[in-house]
Amino acid sequence: MRQRNPYNPDSTPRPHEVRHVMAGARTQVTGEDQSRLSEAEIAVHWKEEALYYPGPKFIGQANWTDPGVMERFSEKNFPECFREFADLLTWDQYWHTTLDTSKAPFWKWFVGGKLNVSANCVDRHLAMYANKSSLIWVPEPEDEPTVVLTYQELYNRVNEMAALLRDHCGLKKGDRVTIHMPMVPELPITMLACARLGVIHSVVFGGFSGEACGARIVDSGSRILVTMDGYYRSGKLLDHKVNADIAVAAAEKEGTKVEKVLVWKRFRDKAASPTPMIAGRDFYVNDVLKQFAGAKVEPVSIPAEDPLFLMYTSGSTGKPKGCQHSSGGYLAYVTGTSKFIQDIHPTDIYWCMADIGWITGHSYIVYGPLANAATTVLYEGVPTYPDAGRPWRIAERLGVNIFHTSPTAIRSLRKLGPDEPKKYRYHFKCMTTVGEPIEPEAWKWYYEVVGRSEAVITDTWWQTETGGFLCTTKPGIDPMKPGSAGPPMPGIYPAILDEQGNEIPTGSGRAGNIVIRNPWPGIFETIWGDPDRFVKTYYAKYNKNKSSTDWHDWPYFAGDGALRAPDGYIRILGRVDDVINVAGHRLGTKELESACLTVPEVAEAAVVPIVDPEKGRVPEVYVALKPGVKADPAVAEKVSKAIETQIGKIARPRTVRIVPDMPKTRSGKIMRRVLASISNRMDYGDISTLSNPEVVEQIRVMVQGAGPVEKQAGPDDIKQFGKDV
Ligand code: WTA
Repeated sequence: MRQRNPYNPDSTPRPHEVRHVMAGARTQVTGEDQSRLSEAEIAVHWKEEALYYPGPKFIGQANWTDPGVMERFSEKNFPECFREFADLLTWDQYWHTTLDTSKAPFWKWFVGGKLNVSANCVDRHLAMYANKSSLIWVPEPEDEPTVVLTYQELYNRVNEMAALLRDHCGLKKGDRVTIHMPMVPELPITMLACARLGVIHSVVFGGFSGEACGARIVDSGSRILVTMDGYYRSGKLLDHKVNADIAVAAAEKEGTKVEKVLVWKRFRDKAASPTPMIAGRDFYVNDVLKQFAGAKVEPVSIPAEDPLFLMYTSGSTGKPKGCQHSSGGYLAYVTGTSKFIQDIHPTDIYWCMADIGWITGHSYIVYGPLANAATTVLYEGVPTYPDAGRPWRIAERLGVNIFHTSPTAIRSLRKLGPDEPKKYRYHFKCMTTVGEPIEPEAWKWYYEVVGRSEAVITDTWWQTETGGFLCTTKPGIDPMKPGSAGPPMPGIYPAILDEQGNEIPTGSGRAGNIVIRNPWPGIFETIWGDPDRFVKTYYAKYNKNKSSTDWHDWPYFAGDGALRAPDGYIRILGRVDDVINVAGHRLGTKELESACLTVPEVAEAAVVPIVDPEKGRVPEVYVALKPGVKADPAVAEKVSKAIETQIGKIARPRTVRIVPDMPKTRSGKIMRRVLASISNRMDYGDISTLSNPEVVEQIRVMVQGAGPVEKQAGPDDIKQFGKDV
């Protein structure tokens, strides 16, 4: 439904075509553009979309409706403006310094303040909401009953688990615990129990392999692993305990000994996994908890800047980075963004379909919603099981009124059941999308069919590193624009820079690297164990004075390409490095390639993203074999398996292609851009600078068959494709 902006009737821009050129990406363009753009640029074409306005019913109940909020959070009021978020929390001791920049860029927020995160998410709600539901868990089998935990019961269970972690495992403030669990209530209970003690949790996505979990155990130095015996996924009961054995063995190989493995049970009365328990090392949590029935653990008062958790994220090079998030700043930021952007009230039934094993789940399933005393829904399984009507049945049955998911899920639900939402009587007041740019087509289905043209949408752009939303519309204030994240959050001052650090003006039609000029409370504090890499990866690019303690000198480099329309709305084009975003999950190209190289026959590997209508991107693998090794399909199979066991099923390549050689520059760099073009059925463009141009045509014929190039890239392909390469 299109209306005019009630605040500014003249603001509606005319739909028009704009052409953008983005520096820093590595895709080539075809046709007429080719002569004008160098290898380091990408052309982006799209139409400006019309604006959609929030309806009066939504605005009538929204938490933020005063357009004056931008003024309150303007640069002249920074950093004190963030007091507004911190004041949503209950502090044991109020802070004296809002932002300490003395060790730039290691920012400290709310210094002098002390609080406990689990007390903020649980204890403080007991007075008003003891008998209100905190978590509702929906198991994947549809005939298994839903589990509802009231705030009182959540309090009981968090306390008992905290007692177990403290007294059975000897854990104390500052220790790390790795948690490798599926989507069950015991996961947030374990996280909150850690937070109660000041123990730093490191949750590894349940779908990651045992080896990936082992590597994260080593990096974080955890001596306790918390897991679960099994869980349902697509109708199958998976053995998850077996991954714990692999993880512990992998960690031990690297010199980290896991002392105890705590195994939650999926079923009360039976084991869900045939994998044996190892005496003295493995403990069923459910059994040990009996000793702690009714135990109460005083929440430990934690300095605001002490870490709450680590969340590992892939980068373009090297091993995954343990992003360290703070207690006070992080909680203030996710509480504020949940309240004002997701519009969470304590009376809302909120469902975010992400996995808690990713940052979205931490910030916007667990910490943000619970700090706001909301009811947060957890679903164990896949959204399309047993059919594409499942999410809408869950929403109808539980009365979900706020919904949060990713473009990937939206695309797959639309593909499998475009009319399913119409069959169910649910009503969303607002919906969120996150994880990758959403195509206007998918946005419109989300808006019209899922949201019944009533629910507002917030397209939230942010990252594991940023803790919470950076760009999004304020749902009760701003109009929405399909495909565009929108204006920056109040208190976030972005800029779009070219490679040299010059600002690309708003409305210029040119794209560049998006940076955030200022620190904000949700920003991560460092990379665990690697502060140099933290500075190098995120701040060095645009910092001109290393010894400066003025935040203006330290723009945060997000690694995404973006451009800003004349109305100030920001459109994110995706990563400018080599990360492949599969179904909203970031996979490091380098991590995948190094898994390929563990296959003895493989000499070189290059992983490129191919555009997939459902998942966004999927990896395609090129390998060159060692001399004398025959190109046997069994080798390709081994490569696929290596990725699956070392990274996880999510990273499984679409195809593994054995090629005679890799296209290389004269300095020996593999030209992934050329391979990506071939994989995506695009013209590979100018290859005259390669050391072995002849191999390119051989590979093209292998992949695309003989004959001319199958398809010239259209503007949309280029736009999509530019995201990852
Ligand atoms: C991409 C997920 C466009 C982006 C919270 C970013 C998005 C990366 C959006 C972070 C969005 C996330 N529009 N792109 N609304 N949200 N991205 O760390 O490239 O898993 O850098 O955090 O996802 O992924 P991460």
